Amino acid sequence: MQEFLIKDLASQEGNEVTLKGWASNKREGKGLAFVILRDGTGWCQCVVAQETVSEDCFEEAKKVSLETSLEITGKVVKDEKQIGGYEIQVSNLHIIGHSTDYPIAKKEHGVDFLTDNRHLWLRSQRQWAIMRIRNRIIFAIHEFFQKDGFVQMDAPIFTGNACEGTSNLFETDFYGDPAYLSQSGQLYGEAMAFSLGKIYTFGPTFRAEKSKTRRHLSEFWMIEPEMIFHDIFDNMDLIERFLRAVVTAVLNDCEKELEAVGRDTAILKNIIKPFPRLTYDEAVKIIKGEVNVNGKNAIQSLEEELVIVNNRIAAILEEIQTREEKIKTPGMKKGEIGFNQAQIDKLKQELADLEEQNRNIPQWLNSAKNFEYGNDFGGSDETVLTRLFDVPIMVYNWPHEVKAFYLKRDPNDSRFARGVDTLAPEGYGEIVGGGERETDVNLLIDKIKEHQLPMEAFEWYLDLRRYGTVPHAGFGLGLERLVTWVCKLPHVRESIPFPRMYGRLLP
Ligand code: 4AD
Ligand code: MG
Repeated sequence: MQEFLIKDLASQEGNEVTLKGWASNKREGKGLAFVILRDGTGWCQCVVAQETVSEDCFEEAKKVSLETSLEITGKVVKDEKQIGGYEIQVSNLHIIGHSTDYPIAKKEHGVDFLTDNRHLWLRSQRQWAIMRIRNRIIFAIHEFFQKDGFVQMDAPIFTGNACEGTSNLFETDFYGDPAYLSQSGQLYGEAMAFSLGKIYTFGPTFRAEKSKTRRHLSEFWMIEPEMIFHDIFDNMDLIERFLRAVVTAVLNDCEKELEAVGRDTAILKNIIKPFPRLTYDEAVKIIKGEVNVNGKNAIQSLEEELVIVNNRIAAILEEIQTREEKIKTPGMKKGEIGFNQAQIDKLKQELADLEEQNRNIPQWLNSAKNFEYGNDFGGSDETVLTRLFDVPIMVYNWPHEVKAFYLKRDPNDSRFARGVDTLAPEGYGEIVGGGERETDVNLLIDKIKEHQLPMEAFEWYLDLRRYGTVPHAGFGLGLERLVTWVCKLPHVRESIPFPRMYGRLLP
């Protein structure tokens, strides 16, 4: 008898194996119990037949409920209809840990309830798949940089200065002095690159953002490469090559996980196409509807979509009413009532999505129409812009006033800073922020003053320009933003095991 993992069942057809895991589902038939077992590597149906097991064993099987942990022994039988393609004909079953009234039952729960129960929600197949995709992304990131000659170095988490502005710092106590949790490892990354040439950091990042958006976490993971002798265009080449490698790795290795999260992979496969590069000026024209993308106008297409959404809402409401009346008709058969109720539930779910769109689209339209040249992009602007594309886009040359102090001023046009944001398509928006760094110590000093940052905390950073400054560039990828787009999640909270965001510290 061998202990085995569900992922390896194919190699054990016809053999007797022992599996250990949890019951993710159980139903009973006449003289039969069906347990869906999960062990972290997969799911498989185990059939317990009263005829073929001992009386004790069958009694034990009856006690299995949702998330009971157990050990099962049985023969592996091929059955393409079953989840995973194999079934276990159980010869023995033993409960390890009981589970009574598991809070997450089959029926749809609200997302707040699920997030309150994140420690259990993680056991669901969808969350399992997301976490495996996240893991593949992390591994692909290291693979890419390590093969490309980058050295991983770690930036500190306690910091004495702000990197990305002072508005969202988490302050903490460092032996009686204020310290801030790292908003970005970049400034340290620059110092490290001046030693090792090409480095990347991969660390937790903290931002106090008192807003509840689908894009913002208070704690997230950022990957920040920094390269000497790279300008903004080299930087964009690297971002493109890097994202292509990472998404390709997921496409190659996570087919079943992408299917489990319901991701249509057609758009991900476009990652092989060149990423359009737009200047800020060009992007603004698109947002305001002054320039079309592939014949599509940002404003017009949103207005058209709003009409379609409203028509569909009206149709659904009518259908729900008709079906509700049907259910109430005297003499209606039980089966037909059930069928109509199921249809109503489905329609109500679609309705909830549509109603959300109905709330969002007017906001997006409003912010696009009223976009003021010179402003940074907000979430809505990014959504409006990226809904028109089917590959990530790169927006560069931003008005220097809205971007970080360390960005290099465009030598050809001093109104602009050489920053670049990479925005994921399908309305997802910014996943990467980066740019070429200012090399001139005096321009940096001016910027630090302009941003009202404490000069003494930046003296060490200015030293990098005083002692052998060189052109350099880098970027920061938000891991959770990438996972969210790759899995096409409605909200960033599902992309990290235990989300930390405004109003959420537990579990
Ligand atoms: O654009 P940001 O602020 O850039 C930097 O921090 C630079 N210092 C990076 C660099 O050049 N080395 O942040 C980079 C990325 C964003 O594009 C986004 O993906 C992610 O970090 N990010 C967040 N992700 C989740 N929640 C938040 N609150 C985030 N803020 C930024
Ligand atoms: Mg940014």
